[in-house]
Amino acid sequence: MKIGVVGAGTMGRGIGQIFAQAGHSVTLIDVSADALSFARKDIQSSLQRLAGKGKMKDEPDAIVARIEFLNDMERLKNCDIVIEAVFERLDIKKDTLARISSIVGDSTVIGSNTSSISIDVLSRAVRHPERFLGIHFFNPVPVMSLVEIVPSEFTSSTVIEHITEILKDVGKDPVFSRNFPGFISNRILMPLIREAILTYEQGIASPADIDKTFRLGMNHPMGPIELADFIGLDVCYDIMEVLYRDFGNPAFKPPVTLKNMVDSGKLGRKTGQGFYSYEVRR
Ligand SMILES: NC(=O)c1ccc[n+]([C@@H]2O[C@H](COP(=O)([O-])OP(=O)(O)OC[C@H]3O[C@@H](n4cnc5c(N)ncnc54)[C@H](O)[C@@H]3O)[C@@H](O)[C@H]2O)c1
Repeated sequence: MKIGVVGAGTMGRGIGQIFAQAGHSVTLIDVSADALSFARKDIQSSLQRLAGKGKMKDEPDAIVARIEFLNDMERLKNCDIVIEAVFERLDIKKDTLARISSIVGDSTVIGSNTSSISIDVLSRAVRHPERFLGIHFFNPVPVMSLVEIVPSEFTSSTVIEHITEILKDVGKDPVFSRNFPGFISNRILMPLIREAILTYEQGIASPADIDKTFRLGMNHPMGPIELADFIGLDVCYDIMEVLYRDFGNPAFKPPVTLKNMVDSGKLGRKTGQGFYSYEVRR
């Protein structure tokens, strides 16, 4: 199949990689030349690591050769499936989905990797809502087997079955959620991250001790603050904003500390500075 992915950031490049690994040809689109060149480097090094562990049947170079890295949406024309993975902003997603929908053929399935935005609302931006649904991957995509499948009111059952089969075929293990803010995962995870940040903001404990509590006390592989840095603090902020607005519940309101960090460009791992400091690989 020919798979299109729009947005070559943390998620888009991982989504492109797993489809190319499974033998599909991939068109990975981004408006940023930097994001595209980093995506190529990151996919190459991820594939080298997997090859080193003996986890692949194809050579990394052969897999990368199946991916075109472009800033040209017109190339989505012949795609069987297009997955949108741009910023978690309603206006940007609606514009991007409308553009994708105006380019692709009538039989193409369009999916959104949104973490929290209503799939019913997004489906209004496409020409064929029956061929549109939420396909929510987890980070890092090549490692995490979970995908949340979120149909809208209008998604056809044939499309749900078809996408479920394809996801299983590329090694994913789906769960199904009704279209509701935050679906299953972020409705539960974001309040945890929010409380962890407030616990730090109120001077109760350091990020290191909050994270240690979850690693050693609850057997989580990562504490909530490290996880927020890993997801991207801007992504967490945007998701909390959507949940706060859509539920109308202050239990989802983004903490001031999180807003200040996003405003000052401290976005977590991807920028080298979040609640912790990291070596930047770019
Ligand atoms: N980071 C995570 O852990 C995670 C997990 C699951 C889902 N998501 C969701 O995936 C989506 C992307 O998140 P991310 O972490 O990859 O963000 P990111 O900031 O790493 O990447 C987003 C990319 O989209 C590109 N972009 C923006 N507008 C565009 C447009 N109009 N056309 C083409 N490209 C455009 C940007 O240049 C950027 O490279 C969001 O909806 C987010 O909520 C994120």
